[in-house]
Order: sequence, then structure tokens, then C-alpha cells
Amino acid sequence: MSPSRRDFLHTSIATGGALGLGMFIRPSTYFGKIPRAQKPLRILILGGTGFIGPHQVRYAVSRGHTVTLFNRGRTNPHLFPDLEKLRGDRDGDLEALKDREWDAVIDNSGYVPRIVRQSAQLLKDAVNQYLFVSSISAYASFGEVDMDETAPLATMDDPTLENIRRYYGPLKALCEQQVREAFPDRATIVRPGLIAGPGDRTDRFTYWPARIDRGGEVLAPGDPTDPVQLIDVRDVTGWMVRLLEQSDAGVYNAVGPEARLSIAEMLYGIRAVTNANVSFTWVDADFLAEQGLRPTVWTPPRGRTAGLGLVSRDRAMAKGLTYLSLAVTAKDTLDWHKSRTEEEQSRLNARLSSDRETEVLAAWHARAGA
Ligand SMILES: NC(=O)c1ccc[n+]([C@@H]2O[C@H](COP(=O)([O-])OP(=O)(O)OC[C@H]3O[C@@H](n4cnc5c(N)ncnc54)[C@H](OP(=O)(O)O)[C@@H]3O)[C@@H](O)[C@H]2O)c1
Repeated sequence: MSPSRRDFLHTSIATGGALGLGMFIRPSTYFGKIPRAQKPLRILILGGTGFIGPHQVRYAVSRGHTVTLFNRGRTNPHLFPDLEKLRGDRDGDLEALKDREWDAVIDNSGYVPRIVRQSAQLLKDAVNQYLFVSSISAYASFGEVDMDETAPLATMDDPTLENIRRYYGPLKALCEQQVREAFPDRATIVRPGLIAGPGDRTDRFTYWPARIDRGGEVLAPGDPTDPVQLIDVRDVTGWMVRLLEQSDAGVYNAVGPEARLSIAEMLYGIRAVTNANVSFTWVDADFLAEQGLRPTVWTPPRGRTAGLGLVSRDRAMAKGLTYLSLAVTAKDTLDWHKSRTEEEQSRLNARLSSDRETEVLAAWHARAGA
């Protein structure tokens, strides 16, 4: 087992408790101790209290780094009582960041270039390295397989538009540009694909362990061999911290898992960590499109999304990105999901309600029998 993988498996429960991270810590994977980094860093995180931030914080603190959070104090303000928290708003109120210095900053919460420019310009003489969390959505298309970091980026006709929902990808590409302008040789751009794991309230991956755990006939999308990608939040966040430790500037896709994964392997792998009695009914891409159904994680591997499940992870792996197994991700995500309130669990937010699934399966069977 590689040292960094062992790091993740051997985190101390006590550390998690002290950091107010109880809701993210699962004893099945977190015990033991993360080795300290050779040199402690002062790390500023723009954000830190949503989904990926708490995992970054926990890892960074365990490595011996000093972490400061900058946010508005709205999202999970109870987290991290022992850390320095600077209050402000990325859009126009960066007062708390002035006249301070850090070794590195991680920008988790940048979506609009005008706003990212504010922090990048303010911090360019105050930090050595700026790690911007972008997205693979920054690419223009996924028409090719094994797309690497040199693939063309998305553009928009009017770069002053700030509709994040509509222009998420092109805006991320423009944000990257702002960071590179302020930190020409000291920018680290990480472009994650779908991030999964404990704490993910988008439920895109969580839907599958939760659904399979419920048992019965499960709608399985597309062809069993269709490729899918996802990365465990603990893999990507720990690696980001290690990129800072290595002062590594560059652009990286952050997708997983290590080996190619088909949708069937993903679903069967998840089933293996439950006791559920499940059968999968494979419903093809055309029928799903007719029904207007877009299940999460899976996308039809054709046209502009032909390569979406096959984005290259080679450069990141060469720089130390390692992967937990699907079984660990699935089990921990399911355990976390079960620790949510009943109301949250019942609102599983993944574009496919139980009623809708039943309806589409009935229509599919009717078509097959017709
Ligand atoms: N999830 C995925 O599958 C996925 C895939 C690819 C890329 N990504 C990228 O990964 C990042 C995910 O971030 P996350 O939300 O999990 O990060 P996070 O750092 O855990 O949470 C977001 C933080 O930003 C703060 N924040 C939001 N608006 C702010 C503002 N105007 N001023 C100051 N602070 C503000 C929030 O606190 P307050 O609300 O208290 O201010 C919160 O602490 C995003 O950049 C996303 O594009 C995600």
C-alpha cells in the first residue's frame, strides 16, 4: 500500500473529533495517524466548510499545517472551532485578508472571474502558491477519449456574464486565467471530475449506494460496459495539500478511479458493500433520453460526452494522486448517508425519485413485452 493511501486509512478519530468533524468521520476508514509533512505550511482556504473543504482541512491539520479559513460564516459555521476564521465576502469584502501572509492558498469557492481576480490580485504578493479548484467542465467538449490537460477549454461569447449555473464550465476556464495572470509561475490548477464521498450533498454518487441499499429492482443506465469516473473526496483533497507541500505548479485533471471503471462494475461494486437483495435492469440510452431521464454519474458515451468517462488521470498520478478503493468510497458514503436526518435521506437529490424509477421501469418492460 502506498504511503499516501495508508495516510487516508490511518487518520485519527480523535483528530476528527477535536476539529468538529464528527459528521464526516467514519471509524471504518479513519484510525491511526497521518504522518506529518516535512515542513509545516501556513495555508489559507477560501471557503473550507462545505463539502471538499472539511476534508482538506482535516488532512492539512493532520499533516501539521496551520490552516486559516476565509468565508462568510454561513455554511457550517460550527466546524473547526480551533482554527483561525477570517470573515468576509469574496465579492467585495476581502478586508480580513489584507496585510497577512501565507505560504499557500486553496481557492475552493471561485466561480466568477471578476471575483477570483479580486483575491488573486490581493494575494499575489502575500502567498507563494495559489491552488485554484477548477473542474473538468472547463473543457470545451468531451468528444475525445483520454483527454489530457492540453485539450481546448470552453469559451463564452460574453465573458462578463456571471450566470454560474448556465456557464459553469466557461466561467471556471476564465477564473483559471485570472489566477494564472496573477501567479504566472506559481498557480496550481486542479480540474476534478465528479467528486464522491461522505459529506456530498449533491447526492450524485450517494444516490447509487443509497438506492442499491434499499434493494429491489434497480434501474441501471445505458450499456453495462459504459465507462464512468468519480474521485473520492479524500483522495482529491489530500492530494491538493500534498501539491502545496511540493510547491507544485501546473494544471491537473483530478479524476478516478485508478483503473477504468464501467457502470456495471460500479453498481456491482456498490452492491458488494451492502446486504441488499438487488436486481439490475439495464435501460438503454435512447430510451432514457426519450423519457427525459438523466441518471447521475453515468452519461451516454457518444457525441460530445463520448470521452467523459475516460478523461486522462496520468499527469495527476505521476504527481502522487492515489485512490481509495470503490468499496471504501461506497461504504463510507452509505454510512454517512445513513447518519443524515430522515428528512435529508428522503430528499435524496439525484434526478430520479423512487416513483419515477418505477414508472420508467414499467414503461421499459412494456416496450420489451410489446
Ligand atoms: N463536487 C464536485 O463533484 C466537483 C467537481 C468538480 C469541481 N468541483 C469544485 O470543487 C469546489 C467545491 O467546493 P466546496 O463547496 O465543496 O468547497 P468548500 O470550501 O467546502 O465550501 C465552500 C465554501 O465557500 C464559502 N463561500 C461561499 N461563498 C462565499 C463568498 N461569497 N465569500 C466567502 N466565502 C464564501 C462557504 O462558506 P460561507 O457560505 O460561510 O461563506 C464555504 O466555506 C468548487 O470550486 C467546485 O466548482 C466540485
